Amino acid sequence: MHLLISFFFAIIVKIQGADWCYQSQVTCGGHCTGPDGWTTVAGACGGKAQSPINIVTRRTLPDGRLTPFTFAGYQEAFHSLITNNGRTVHVDLPATAKVQGGDLAVPYKAIQLHLHLGKDGGPGSEHTIDGERYPMELHIVNIKEEYNSLDEALKDLTGVGVLGFFYEQSGSSNKKYDSIINALNSINMPSSNTTLSDVSLDMFIPSQSNMTSYFRYQGSLTTPPCEEAVVWTVFKNTIPLSRQQLDAFSRLQFADGKPMVGTYRPVQPLNGRLVYRSGSQVILVSTWLLITSVISAIGLPLPK
Ligand SMILES: *[C@@H]1O[C@H](CO)[C@@H](O)[C@H](O)[C@H]1NC(C)=O
Ligand SMILES: *[C@@H]1O[C@H](CO)[C@@H](O)[C@H](O)[C@H]1NC(C)=O
Ligand SMILES: [Zn+2]
Repeated sequence: MHLLISFFFAIIVKIQGADWCYQSQVTCGGHCTGPDGWTTVAGACGGKAQSPINIVTRRTLPDGRLTPFTFAGYQEAFHSLITNNGRTVHVDLPATAKVQGGDLAVPYKAIQLHLHLGKDGGPGSEHTIDGERYPMELHIVNIKEEYNSLDEALKDLTGVGVLGFFYEQSGSSNKKYDSIINALNSINMPSSNTTLSDVSLDMFIPSQSNMTSYFRYQGSLTTPPCEEAVVWTVFKNTIPLSRQQLDAFSRLQFADGKPMVGTYRPVQPLNGRLVYRSGSQVILVSTWLLITSVISAIGLPLPK
């Protein structure tokens, strides 16, 4: 009887897809469904507008509507729960943190941030730029202001707005990351949490003047259920962390006790989607300078 119950329980778990995992876990001999099988976990994972993608910079299109963002509440200190959920480390965010501008239709409010991890500074980002995979990637997950939950936002093609940032190894340590890295010591084990105190969102991301260059495309969640409801913003400027700081993230553990590394989904086909880039104003200005300098060089009067 007990066996029968656990058998049916196993089937239910299978149907609900609770056992999806990353390729790194399959490679390590885990009995779980890796990215190749995620469509059996959630049908949407086989859709035509999936994330992440490789961004081929010379194929991106300049878009003048991709203006700098306005951030609200990003400087406010908050206390929050930081959790190792067996797949990532995530931090609940106060909904008072909002992002607007950058051709987003409405303001989006923050719900959580989480990370995708490499191993000891090795490749770990989800998005790649011209094939380059960065050591880690930060996702700040936001939903349109009008929604009360992620589930609600996922029913809208542009209900979710994720801000993605890459990390890069630097020679010196990034003091702004001390508090989050200290907190990792308390949550090495899966299903554990601790309080993250006195942090603000702007501590985790580049300065505002360094967030004007970014890519934009329409995609999905990068984990099951893979809903295609995400407006993606991937920033060009990276967040610096020392090698020692990057290594600290590799001490987190998956539910099976193995190191939480390689937590990225393989890049997905574009299927005709276009990727846009900000900064076309700069290009227009430099084209104008070129034209005017050519005209003055050949001695024509400057157009007014
Ligand atoms: C945080 O951890 C405690 C004890 O380890 C647990 O009881 C609690 O449910 C956890 N909270 C959340 C929100 O995961
Ligand atoms: C902005 O980006 C430049 C170039 O990547 C870097 O040298 C500089 O340190 C950054 N500034 C801040 C405040 O992050
Ligand atoms: Zn993510």
